[in-house]
Amino acid sequence: MSETYVTYSRDGVVGTITIDRPRALNALNPEVLVQLSQCLKEAEFDRECLGVILTGAGGKAFVAGADIASMLDLPPAEGLRFAELGLSTLQQIEDLSKPVIAAINGFALGGGMELALACDMIYASPKSKLGQPEVKLGIIPGFGGTQRLARLVGKNRAREIIFTGDMYDAQTAAAFGLVQAVVPEAELMDYCRGMINKIGRMGPLAVAQAKRAINKGTDLALDSGLAIEKLAFMSLFGTSDQREGMTAFLEKRNAVFKGE
Ligand code: CAA
Repeated sequence: MSETYVTYSRDGVVGTITIDRPRALNALNPEVLVQLSQCLKEAEFDRECLGVILTGAGGKAFVAGADIASMLDLPPAEGLRFAELGLSTLQQIEDLSKPVIAAINGFALGGGMELALACDMIYASPKSKLGQPEVKLGIIPGFGGTQRLARLVGKNRAREIIFTGDMYDAQTAAAFGLVQAVVPEAELMDYCRGMINKIGRMGPLAVAQAKRAINKGTDLALDSGLAIEKLAFMSLFGTSDQREGMTAFLEKRNAVFKGE
C-alpha cells in the first residue's frame, strides 16, 4: 500500500488539494502525480466545490520540482513517459471546469512552478521563491514550462528565467506578471479562500465557460479565439443560471445560481 501524498478536502464551496511530501519538499514523483490527478477528478465531480486551492504542506515549499532522485537513471523512453504523466496531470488543471488557485508558500521550482503555471491564478507569500532551475541539472522544463511561461510573461523574460535557472522572490515574480498578489504568509490561505468564495457567488457555468474560452482560445488566431468565445457565450443562453442572473438584476436582488 503506497503512502498518501496528495489529499482533497472541501470546506463550504472551497476545495483544497494539498501536496504533502515535505521530506522531499513536495517533489513530484509518479506516485504524487497519479494521486494529484485522482484528487483533481474528485474536485471536478464534487458538485459542492466551486473552486480549488492547490498548495504544498510543510511550510517550506509549494513544490520544489520534479523528483530528481527518481529521474536520475531514466532512459529517454521513460523520460518521455514521465513528461507525459506530468503534462496530462497539469492539463487536467487547465481543463477543470472550476478555477484553480496556486497558493505558494515557499519554493515553487521546476515542475513546481510549472504546476502553478497551469493554475488560473497564483498568489504567493513574501518568502516564496520561484524559478525554473532545470538547466542546472542538464535538462529543461518538461511539464510545460517553456510553453506556458513564455505565453504568460513573454518569450524574452521566459528565456532569461529558463536559461539562467535563477530563483526569484515573490515580489519580482509579481512584477513579471507571474504572481497576481503577494500576501502575508499568515493570510495566504484565507486570501485564496476569499477569492474562491467570491468567484463562487458568480454563475458557475459562466465561470467555467470563461475559463474554457481563455484557455482554449488565447493561443489561437484572434478570429478562432473569438469563435470559441461566441460559442461559449451562446451556450449559456437558456440555462437556469442565465435566466436567474438576469432576472435577479432586473428585480434588484442577488442572484442565487444553481450551476444548471
Ligand atoms: N527532487 C527530489 N528531492 C528534492 C527536491 C527535488 N526536486 N528538492 C528538494 N529535495 C530534497 C533534498 O534532496 C533534501 O533531501 P534530504 O534531506 O534527503 O537530503 C530535502 O528535499 C530538503 O532539501 P535541501 O536540503 O536541498 O533544502 P535546502 O533548503 O538546502 O534547499 C532548495 C532548498 C533550494 C529548494 C533545494 O532543495 C533545491 O535546489 N531543490 C531542487 C530544485 C530543482 O532543481 N527543481 C527542479 C527539478 S527538475 C524538474 O522539475 C523537471 C521538470 O520540469 C519536470
